[in-house]
Amino acid sequence: MASQQPDGPFADRVVFVTGAARGQGREHAVRFAEAGADVIAVDVCEQLDSVAYPMATPEDLAETVASVEKTGRRIVAERCDVRDRDRLAAIVSRGVEEFGRLDFVLANAGIMPATGPQGREINAYVDAVDIMLNGVYYTVDAALPALLDNSDGGAIVITSSAAGLKSVSTDLGTMTHGAAGYTAAKHGVVGLMRHFAASLAARNIRVNSVHPGGVATPMVLNEAMVGFITENPSFGQSQMPLMTLPMMESGSVTDAIMFLCGPAGRYITGVALPIDAGLQLR
Ligand SMILES: NC(=O)c1ccc[n+]([C@@H]2O[C@H](COP(=O)([O-])OP(=O)(O)OC[C@H]3O[C@@H](n4cnc5c(N)ncnc54)[C@H](O)[C@@H]3O)[C@@H](O)[C@H]2O)c1
Repeated sequence: MASQQPDGPFADRVVFVTGAARGQGREHAVRFAEAGADVIAVDVCEQLDSVAYPMATPEDLAETVASVEKTGRRIVAERCDVRDRDRLAAIVSRGVEEFGRLDFVLANAGIMPATGPQGREINAYVDAVDIMLNGVYYTVDAALPALLDNSDGGAIVITSSAAGLKSVSTDLGTMTHGAAGYTAAKHGVVGLMRHFAASLAARNIRVNSVHPGGVATPMVLNEAMVGFITENPSFGQSQMPLMTLPMMESGSVTDAIMFLCGPAGRYITGVALPIDAGLQLR
């Protein structure tokens, strides 16, 4: 669809989102587009052996494309595994060639490999760290040349988790390889966030992480997770926020990310922001 007259707080800006086929990543892509940004989107759109619930499909990514285009903004969307650094870099380059710049990077792609029989295989640990720690590094690294080219600075937001500030596993029953990998990766990206925040501050590129509690997406609303909680009530209790709100929707995470990327967040960098209705206080 032809681009409309740019409008909104992110008019003429460009955002790069990983894991954009559904869930939080799709919400971020569409809301940034509604705010005027063009979108570079990637998602693996493939079932991984270490994951016990259905992952996103190419049709999901097509739906993200259609939703972004409906806003009048443009999108470059490709299937890509965030473990593939060269392909990430090539896709960012294509997007920047098309849209002329890059302003925001949302390193959002992730898996929850703690549940099901797969979660007890060592591959679950390896995939968790490869995708949610190494993949985040590759995502930011692939975007850096374009961000550094941008004389206006920019913003990077890494989606960690409540599990970036406390353990997923609560006892021996929940001590799966996947839970270890998830906790390790989500803590690890706080280190990456501080590394990039310090290194890029002089170029006015701000870097923060967000740490959601439970968000209503297919990652947690699935049979494998229900089974894990039923078998391990301590895990279910540890995931209960203190506040008595309904389960968080993706849009509440998008709200925080838009704040961090927008002018209201211009003095904020190096921050690990919980969005968890008090879960960390438990
Ligand atoms: N849902 C929650 O309760 C919750 C809570 C805290 C943090 N998070 C984090 O939020 C982020 C988004 O998750 P979501 O809740 O939207 O789940 P989701 O499963 O709906 O979306 C995750 C997306 O990432 C994609 N993805 C997975 N591995 C990939 C890879 N190797 N390369 C490229 N894309 C890949 C998936 O295909 C999927 O589209 C994840 O990093 C997750 O760990 C989720």
